[in-house]
Amino acid sequence: MSTLVIKDLHVSIEDKEILKGVNLTLNTNEIHAIMGPNGTGKSTLASAIMGHPKYEVTSGSITLDGEDVLEMEVDERARAGLFLAMQYPSEIAGVTNADFLRSAINARREEGDEISIMKFIRELDKKMEFLEMPEEMSQRYLNEGFSGGEKKRNEILQLMMIKPKFAVLDEIDSGLDIDALKVVSKGINEMRGEGFGCLMITHYQRLLNYITPDHVHVMMQGKVVKSGGSELAQRLEAEGYDWIKQELGIEDTDAVTEEA
Ligand SMILES: Nc1ncnc2c1ncn2[C@@H]1O[C@H](COP(=O)(O)OP(=O)(O)OP(=O)(O)O)[C@@H](O)[C@H]1O
Ligand SMILES: [Mg+2]
Repeated sequence: MSTLVIKDLHVSIEDKEILKGVNLTLNTNEIHAIMGPNGTGKSTLASAIMGHPKYEVTSGSITLDGEDVLEMEVDERARAGLFLAMQYPSEIAGVTNADFLRSAINARREEGDEISIMKFIRELDKKMEFLEMPEEMSQRYLNEGFSGGEKKRNEILQLMMIKPKFAVLDEIDSGLDIDALKVVSKGINEMRGEGFGCLMITHYQRLLNYITPDHVHVMMQGKVVKSGGSELAQRLEAEGYDWIKQELGIEDTDAVTEEA
């Protein structure tokens, strides 16, 4: 079993504190969901876990099986078994989907132990069929011109090929049609097991109808303010966030209200 522990994590962007003490422990064989109003720091948490340079960790810790993740470069984090499916996946011109995947897989293997092309292609074909993706997508440039839903499905293809220990999936359900949502969920459920833990950021119970989370957390104003089981997500869907704010005496000052 592996464990990812986030302790009292504070993160700033351009000197503005976004995360104000996040505590979270993930084990493999568990699926956690994080919900919360817009602008409360969910994607910031995802980026901080993966080591995006813009997000400055000012205090707290992240450890993977006791190893200090914050000391690792982005590629070392990936090699250690961390994976992020971004809310807005980037397009990379000039690198085909297949080439990208093969490099990502090989980056996690020892030198001299690279995956054989045959084995890679066989596995890629199998996974793409499972995710009902057209074959030609493997030869297209990474995410270039992919529709929103195709990008999300492609993130799950990466997940299934790379087989990380821990995946952070940021709004993997956004922009998916009903069939795509089922396929993406099928992929995540297929990954479920001893060697895999997952943190899914989502706004909707809908996703959680297909993937039953073991734990649900609510993030507000840069902190995890409430945790529970899947019933918590159902209550949020039905009642929104006001009751939590009232329960905790949180004032309504989330970033979304800043527009004016
Ligand atoms: N690169 C950045 N530069 C400046 N501000 C940023 C940056 N990234 C995030 N922020 C700010 O940090 C706050 C938290 O953003 P974050 O993307 O983590 O929210 P979120 O919880 O993922 O919201 P949503 O549900 O809308 O995706 C917001 O106020 C946002 O404007
Ligand atoms: Mg976000």
